[in-house]
Amino acid sequence: MKKVLFVFVCFAFVAILSQCSSSRNTAKAAPALSFEKDILPMFRTSCAPCHFPPDGRKEPLNNYDAVKKNITEVLIRVKLPASDNKYMPFKSKKPAFSDSLVRVLEQWQAQNMPQ
Ligand code: HEC
Repeated sequence: MKKVLFVFVCFAFVAILSQCSSSRNTAKAAPALSFEKDILPMFRTSCAPCHFPPDGRKEPLNNYDAVKKNITEVLIRVKLPASDNKYMPFKSKKPAFSDSLVRVLEQWQAQNMPQ
């Protein structure tokens, strides 16, 4: 009987410990971003149709590989003053990426660009 109780207490202890460490981990981790959910909609709003083939004929930015390949140039251009002729969206014809959206894009890059 004593042995059963001991085993039970051990299990309870392990269960409580694992609970503690898992909740600590989730509290620390930054929310994981997703290309489809967080990133692509920004490009649809601000960079289509020019960068969305077949309507747009500029450097494609309508899929994961294309955005990943161009991320450095994209960040440089959207952070320029709107008056710069390299600024994107081109001639402010579409809504700008707000400061908070630029931060989301930088976070996504820092997270190694999850798909
Ligand atoms: C109204 C059309 C239009 C929109 C909207 C637009 N662009 Fe562009 N984009 C252009 C044109 C035209 C060029 C080529 C001229 C140049 O390089 O400045 C270009 C070039 C670029 C380049 C350089 C590509 C290369 O091959 O060097 C990048 C990167 C870029 N755009 C990013 C963006 C991003 C990011 C957005 C959305 C925030 C955007 N563009 C919105 C028209 C547009």
